[in-house]
Amino acid sequence: MEKILEVHALYKQFADICAVDQVSFEANKGEIIALLGPNGAGKSTLMNMIAGYLAPNGGDVFVTGINMEQNPIDAKSNIGFLAEGAPLYGDMSTAAFLDYMADLKGLDKAQKKQRLLDVQEMAQISTVWHKKIETLSKGYQRRVGFAQSLLSDPPLLLLDEPTDGLDPNQKDHIRHLIKELGKNKTIIISTHLLDDVSEMCNRIMLMNKGCIVADGTMQDILQHSEKHSLEDAFRYLTGGQYA
Ligand SMILES: Nc1ncnc2c1ncn2[C@@H]1O[C@H](COP(=O)(O)OP(=O)(O)OP(=O)(O)O)[C@@H](O)[C@H]1O
Ligand SMILES: [Mg+2]
Repeated sequence: MEKILEVHALYKQFADICAVDQVSFEANKGEIIALLGPNGAGKSTLMNMIAGYLAPNGGDVFVTGINMEQNPIDAKSNIGFLAEGAPLYGDMSTAAFLDYMADLKGLDKAQKKQRLLDVQEMAQISTVWHKKIETLSKGYQRRVGFAQSLLSDPPLLLLDEPTDGLDPNQKDHIRHLIKELGKNKTIIISTHLLDDVSEMCNRIMLMNKGCIVADGTMQDILQHSEKHSLEDAFRYLTGGQYA
């Protein structure tokens, strides 16, 4: 098994709130991890720190063995990140934005040409290629954000609610694509949709109040429910906070 991500005692405090409390875990190639938990559990904060977008108050992140704090540029070059709400440059066209992001990620001219075609196809955004991002619907903006995360074909993908705002056809398409991509990558997906979990993910991490309270396969998690139901197991594991 090829270890892609190592998170050690990661910690983040906002004023009097401990958003992420000494979280440690490892993730290997081929794992598609559902990061679940109630609103405010710390999922986005954890992802933002793994992505190197938010500085932790303590702990370490290693991406393909590279320490994020000591070598952020190299560590980030191995990550594709779709942040919560997918911040984008609204006054740019889809094409101009992705071209610019490809330059930032250091793709050379030939690579860039090919990858722009690839991500256009993968995220199904050809119809909005020349439109200004701020004029796009929420679902299409999400797709552009997803395309951005795939540009450098990184070994680690961090997707914060990737199916949020997508119509049912697009949800199916993105789920299928993520499953395919996950064969050769490590993917962490934050979601509130149990269909996302059952259709894409082979590992579940459940967060509550900044801590990981369960980590395992669907079968492992279901053992916490006499009714053999995920919702019931989540309710039990979070003391009634979730599901
Ligand atoms: N920039 C910030 N400043 C202050 N508090 C913050 C900030 N970002 C997050 N928090 C707090 O940290 C906690 C964890 O928030 P986070 O956004 O990580 O939760 P989440 O699990 O992603 O929730 P959701 O399911 O709603 O997306 C919450 O109590 C939140 O209010
Ligand atoms: Mg969140």
